[in-house]
Amino acid sequence: MPMPRKLFVTTALPYANGNFHIGHIMEYIQADIWVRFQRMQGHDVNFVGADDTHGAPIMIAAEKAGKTPQQFVADIAAGRKPYLEGFHIAFDNWSSTDSPENHALAKEIYLDLKANGLVSSKVVEQFFDPQKNMFLPDRFIKGECPKCGSKDQYGDNCEVCGAVYAPTDLKNPYSTLSGAKPVLKSSEHFFFKLSDPRCVAFLEQWTQDGRLQPEVANKVKEWFTVRTNPDGTQSEGLGDWDISRDAPYFGIEIPDAPGKYFYVWLDAPVGYLASLKNYLNKTGVDYEQYMADPALEQVHFIGKDIVTFHTLFWPAMLKFSGRKTPDRVFVHGFLTVNNGEKMSKSRGTGLDPLKYLSLGMNPEWLRYYLAAKLSGKNEDIDFNAEDFMARVNSDLIGKYVNIASRTAPFFAKHFANEMQPIKMGSLQGVPVPADSAGFAVALAHSAEIKTALDSREFSKAVRLIMEVADAINKEFDGFKPWLLAKTAATDPVAKEQLAQICASSIAGFKALSIFLKPILPKLVSEAEQFLNCPNMTWDELALPLDPAHFIPPGHKFNPDNFIPPGHKFNEFKPLMQRVDAKQLEALFEPPAAPEPEAVLPGGEPIADTITIDDFAKIDLRIAKIVNCEAVEGSTKLLRLTLDVGEGRMRNVFSGIASAYKPEDLIGKLTVMVANLAPRKMKFGVSEGMVLAASHADEKAQPGIHVLAPWPGAQPGMRVH
Ligand code: MSP
Ligand code: ZN
Repeated sequence: MPMPRKLFVTTALPYANGNFHIGHIMEYIQADIWVRFQRMQGHDVNFVGADDTHGAPIMIAAEKAGKTPQQFVADIAAGRKPYLEGFHIAFDNWSSTDSPENHALAKEIYLDLKANGLVSSKVVEQFFDPQKNMFLPDRFIKGECPKCGSKDQYGDNCEVCGAVYAPTDLKNPYSTLSGAKPVLKSSEHFFFKLSDPRCVAFLEQWTQDGRLQPEVANKVKEWFTVRTNPDGTQSEGLGDWDISRDAPYFGIEIPDAPGKYFYVWLDAPVGYLASLKNYLNKTGVDYEQYMADPALEQVHFIGKDIVTFHTLFWPAMLKFSGRKTPDRVFVHGFLTVNNGEKMSKSRGTGLDPLKYLSLGMNPEWLRYYLAAKLSGKNEDIDFNAEDFMARVNSDLIGKYVNIASRTAPFFAKHFANEMQPIKMGSLQGVPVPADSAGFAVALAHSAEIKTALDSREFSKAVRLIMEVADAINKEFDGFKPWLLAKTAATDPVAKEQLAQICASSIAGFKALSIFLKPILPKLVSEAEQFLNCPNMTWDELALPLDPAHFIPPGHKFNPDNFIPPGHKFNEFKPLMQRVDAKQLEALFEPPAAPEPEAVLPGGEPIADTITIDDFAKIDLRIAKIVNCEAVEGSTKLLRLTLDVGEGRMRNVFSGIASAYKPEDLIGKLTVMVANLAPRKMKFGVSEGMVLAASHADEKAQPGIHVLAPWPGAQPGMRVH
């Protein structure tokens, strides 16, 4: 037996500003499958996660929610369990970057870096919100794009023309927190000197020595020669990293620097170690000793958007504070849903994991489906509803589960639920189960499936597993056991053949169950219960790793040891339901608008009573929209040219651009307020108002509906 590996595995620490979305769940499922696989090989794994709690956005979200940041992140943490348990994600520990362990470790690491001469300080000028009394992160500053003049653009880039710039380049900047005009203010910042030749030399080696996926290593290589500055210009080589923020900030205070805090990304990855330490403390293992073992492998699963942090800053922080650096960083791509856009980091999209569970959808459908799509590469994958249903119903259930459900009744009826002997034949001079192509294929594929799972080539593993299932089903069909069963009672040859096909099919099913166990822990534990084979391990297949020699000469694999003849099976219970198209429909149905407290028509109460004379003051007229065009510089307004039969045209601006294209409206009739005082607007004078219906809460129930008269009305007619 080779020595068991000692693995410390993490997933990225999610921001504690919202619930998990399906992208998070994908990452956890990927890591969980890998961890379960390693454990099945007898390896020793600690698998930990934590909430990433610090930073300005969380501080601000807490304030908006009327909570302290501590209370805010505690509430988020309290909601994690149903997701993790629901999808069978078996972290050993879930901690927080605001834990005492993390505060202590982050400070230690910082002080070690400082002692090593890798921390410098510099005065930096930044935007400051004079009303909120705080420095503003780029995402809380908006203004006009310095290039194209578009309004309401973020501090780092323009969504209209794509320009990249520094927040100080914005015209008429304002704070999105208070609306105040930010002022420039200087403050001392601390920097981690990534440009130090020691760091550069170390990282050039560390990132290119084979521990990263080739596509990731290549991308990282570019950063050693050129980097993009905040203002869009480019500089040579690695730049120093700004690691401090000024109070008020929710974070860890920097030692000997009152009012200065670590930038969230400094203490976030330290949270990996802190969660491990927190866990080891609980289990009575010494953290320092655990980390000091040279055999320990430290593995991080992360998404492609946070590669810089994990392949530059984090390894350099560890190395130059005298600590162990990560052995592997496994980068995955993004999950999209139904060909949708990449989901928003905070809101996610489309597929709500808790809704999935609450609809009674089986979490293992998703685990299986994601496994069938995931490779070891940094590639995006798409959740497609039809594909999902096909893979689960036709492959997982139609091929794998089906083997048990079609074999079990024969065992019950003809063999008192007892295993029958598997007949041995010979392949290339080596003993193998005879007439049992399916089971032989299972044995033949075992090593390759193992390698695929180990290298996170889950889609390849699933493809091979389904090949095995196909072979088993094909063999089963070939024997036509349903015909054999008819004569088995009287015909010993038929009974013998029935015994053979049932024995080899059930052995094949057991092999498949072993392969699928990391992906489908619950389903396979039920299969173990039926097979009466608890705690199955890969070693039961007892095949060497090298696929070229899957049955070496003299190999001792004895199918009778796999499930011995006479072994009693338990009563078979259906293992898994099929996906119902209705469930998928319900899953993707947009959530109903929240029920208002009291029922308010259109989202607002009916206005105060008026008299008929009040109403008569409003001159409503039928108007013909003779022309309509977009308003340059406004995304909300359309410019309408209206004819109310006065022998002249009226110019009216209407905030309906989100609902109508100009060409939708030209030539149509509508209703306007014809005696409204003209109003001077930025784009010209508006001479009236078009009537349109909308819900008071535009966000909850979007949509604007312009009024149109019934046929027969003419421009200029009064509306009474
Ligand atoms: N808090 C940081 C990570 C700190 S690690 C020390 C962060 N949090 S996050 O909540 O935005 O993202 C957590 C993980 O989810 C990241 O690995 C990210 O790549 C991953 N994903 C976010 N959206 C995703 C998809 N749509 N698909 C797959 N993974 C995605 O970044
Ligand atoms: Zn622009």
